[in-house]
Amino acid sequence: MSLLRTDRSWRAEVRRRVPVRRLPQTPPAHLRGTWREARPARIDAAVEDALGRPTHGWLVAAASTELGHGRTLLRTVAGREVVLWRDADGSLLAGPGACPHLGAPLADCDVVEGTVLCRWHGMPLGRAGDGAWRTFAAHDDGVLLWVRVGPVEEGVEPTPLPVLATRPDPAGAIASVISLPAVCEPRDVVANRLDPWHGAWLHPYAFSDLAVDDRASSPDRLVLDVAYRLGRTFAVPVRAEFTCPDSHTVVMTITGGEGVGSVVETHATPLTAPGVHPAATVMTEAVVATSERTGFRVARSLAPLVRVGMRASATQLWADDLVYAARLYELRRAAAER
Ligand code: FES
Ligand SMILES: [Fe+2]
Repeated sequence: MSLLRTDRSWRAEVRRRVPVRRLPQTPPAHLRGTWREARPARIDAAVEDALGRPTHGWLVAAASTELGHGRTLLRTVAGREVVLWRDADGSLLAGPGACPHLGAPLADCDVVEGTVLCRWHGMPLGRAGDGAWRTFAAHDDGVLLWVRVGPVEEGVEPTPLPVLATRPDPAGAIASVISLPAVCEPRDVVANRLDPWHGAWLHPYAFSDLAVDDRASSPDRLVLDVAYRLGRTFAVPVRAEFTCPDSHTVVMTITGGEGVGSVVETHATPLTAPGVHPAATVMTEAVVATSERTGFRVARSLAPLVRVGMRASATQLWADDLVYAARLYELRRAAAER
């Protein structure tokens, strides 16, 4: 009897320290009616609210780690080729991706002391620009690279910086970024993210449960409780809130449970110019994870390895979510053409 008590108190202590819980092995009965909570009108209202938030022209172009010091990176953003490079002090610079001499693509060019040397004939291009070739506003937030080349919304001014989400202190966090393309518009990526109800159904490998807290939620803030699966048997429950700092971004912040303060930022960058069909969009997701646990400090020392796992699970989720986003786009286009 005393042995049993000892065993139970040991289990209770483990549960207290590691808040995992055992999962049922069949879909729980209480999930069966949850599709009714995912009301299309409610999701549409949240998407419309998000779409009303200006980007001031700022769009995510790449992960900060993709751009080194001696080479350029060429990206397409909102139908424009954009070259990215670093100035001598490491700050981000960006400009049109075609060389003003004969139009060479400014991809993989050498950068010497902040000056791009075109690969075709060596024309130097730097912060000062050349004639009509002028640099764009650009910003490296430490995890993502932003450029101000998107359309600036009616009635608002371009701003010197993008609208940035609150992230945990980088000194105590691990950041990982994935980017995936899809045939859709940015609003479809945002719409997928503002439908949290699909989580436990479309991603049963990642979420065992999910409940939106209607009383804590408001039109511009979705609050929910969700359990992240750790394999077949256990899950970690967390409380999270979803907000949209601008029309192309959805931020999930962990507010309770494991990893409070961690954020998952989803950024939708149009590849194609507005109104071009079929539309293409790149989804960039930045996970900035933090935790007070001793184990997390060990994980931070193994950050490169941990990032591989973080990217793999994010890629698996988004493989399904981008099919969802592409389907929304397909249905909207079909309806528009009728
Ligand atoms: S095309 Fe760039 S230097 Fe000639
Ligand atoms: Fe999803």
